[in-house]
Amino acid sequence: MEFTKGKIVVIVSVNVLIILLIILRICLGLSKAFIFILGADIAAIFCIFTCVFVKYRKNGRRRALEGSLVLEGQELKRTEYSFLRKVAGLPTKFRYRDLETATDKFQAVIGRGGSASVFKGILDDGTSIAVKRIEGTTHGEREFHAELTVIASIQHVNLVQLLGYCSVPGSPPLLVYEFICNGSLDNWIFPQKGGRNGQNFSCLAWNFRFRVAVDVAKALAYLHRDCRSRILHLDIKPENILLNEDFRAVVSDFGLSKLMRKDESRLYTTIRGTKGYLAPEWLLENGVSEKSDVYSYGMVLLEIIGGRRNVRLDQEGSNCSHRKWSYFPKIVTEKLREGKLMEVVDERLTDDSGVDEKQLRVLVHVALWCIQESPGLRPSMGYVVDMLEGRVIVEKPPETEMIVVDLLCLDDQILDGVQKPKVEIVTGQLLESQHRTTSNYSLSTSVLSGR
Ligand SMILES: Nc1ncnc2c1ncn2[C@@H]1O[C@H](COP(=O)(O)OP(=O)(O)O)[C@@H](O)[C@H]1O
Ligand SMILES: [Mg+2]
Repeated sequence: MEFTKGKIVVIVSVNVLIILLIILRICLGLSKAFIFILGADIAAIFCIFTCVFVKYRKNGRRRALEGSLVLEGQELKRTEYSFLRKVAGLPTKFRYRDLETATDKFQAVIGRGGSASVFKGILDDGTSIAVKRIEGTTHGEREFHAELTVIASIQHVNLVQLLGYCSVPGSPPLLVYEFICNGSLDNWIFPQKGGRNGQNFSCLAWNFRFRVAVDVAKALAYLHRDCRSRILHLDIKPENILLNEDFRAVVSDFGLSKLMRKDESRLYTTIRGTKGYLAPEWLLENGVSEKSDVYSYGMVLLEIIGGRRNVRLDQEGSNCSHRKWSYFPKIVTEKLREGKLMEVVDERLTDDSGVDEKQLRVLVHVALWCIQESPGLRPSMGYVVDMLEGRVIVEKPPETEMIVVDLLCLDDQILDGVQKPKVEIVTGQLLESQHRTTSNYSLSTSVLSGR
C-alpha cells in the first residue's frame, strides 16, 4: 500500500515538473533563465528516478529474503512433520510410481493369501518392505480400509508395523509393511514338501514354539485390552503370524479385523474367516467377541504343539479310498486323559530332548481352555499370558463336547436317511446342544469355506 502511494507521488511530481517546463518554455522561450530551470528540472527528475530505483532494489531484496525464509520455514515444518510421523510410527502415503520402483514392478512374490499378493521391495533409503497388493473388487476395498484403520493407529512389538499405503483410482490398493524376514509360522511348524517360494524352512525348535505362543498371546491381549477401542483380529492362524530375524512372532493381516466399543459385548458381522479356526459362535451367527480370537488362538496353539493341521484327512493303509478325518484337538484330549501327553508333540521334536514337559502341559491346558465351545469358559488373552508366564496356576480344563469334531469324524455319515452337508449337521447339533431355536439354522458349506 505504502509502495503504491509512493509511486503515485513520483508520477505526479515528474508530470508536474514536465508540465512546468512546457509552460516555462512557452513563457520564457529559450532564455538563460529557462535553460537554468531546465537543468534544475532534469536534475530533480533524475534524482527522483534514482531514489525510486534504489528503493525498488531494496524492496526486491527484502522480498526475496522473506520468500526464502518462508520456504525454509515450510521445509523445516515438513521435515519436522515427517520426522514426527516416523517417530510416532504413523504411516505415510506413498506414490504408486515409487512402490513400483521399490518392488521392481511387483516381481518378487513373498506370499499370497485369500485377498492379496505380497511382494518384497526396497525403498530408496534401503528399508526392506513388504507391499501387500489387495486384489478382488468385492471385499478388497473394505479389507484395505479395515486394515488401514486398525493397524495405522497401533504399535506393539508383536504386531506388524504399517509404514504406509497407496490408493490410486484404477489400481489395486497397496499397503506397505516392514519386511519380516522369516515369513509365516505355517512354514516352520508344518512339514514342507520341498521349500516354499524357493526358501528352505526347517522345523521350529520347542523353545521357539513356546516363545511364539507367548508373543502371539501378548499381541492379542494388547488388541483386546490395551487399545482405546477393543480390536478383534478375527483371522488368527499360522499364515497370519510372521517370524522376524530372532524368530519372535509378529501378528499380521488385519483385513478382517473389527473395532468394538469397550461397552459392547458382541459384534454381529458376516462370517468370513478361515475354516478350522472359526469359533462355534461364528457358525451359530451368535455374534463374535474377543473370545472368538481366543478360540482361534487355542487352535493355533495345538497346531504349534503337534506340528500338524488340526483337521486332516488321513489315509488308512494303502487303500486311497479309505480316508478318515483326524481331528487333533480330540486326540490331544484323549492323550491328556491317558497321561500320554508327549505323544501329541510334533514327532520331529521328540528325537532331541528339547521338549520341556512342564511347558508342554501348560500349553496343552491353555489351548484346551481356549477352545471351549462356550465363549464364557474361555480365558481372556491377558489371563492366557499370565498362565503362560507362570503368574497364575493353570487348572485342568473341562472336557469340551467338540461336536464339530465328532461330525468331521463321521465322514459322509447319513443322518435320518438323508445325506446332509457336514456343516449343516454340525450347526444343527450345536444348536441342539445349546438349547437354541432353529432360527439360525441355515448355514451351508459355502459359508464355512473361508477365504
Ligand atoms: N510384512 C511381511 N513380511 C514378510 N512376509 C509377509 C508380510 N506380510 C505378509 N507376508 C506373507 O504374505 C502372506 C499373505 O499375506 P496376508 O497379509 O496374510 O494376506 P491375505 O490378507 O491375503 O491373507 C503371508 O502369509 C506371509 O507369508
Ligand atoms: Mg492372511
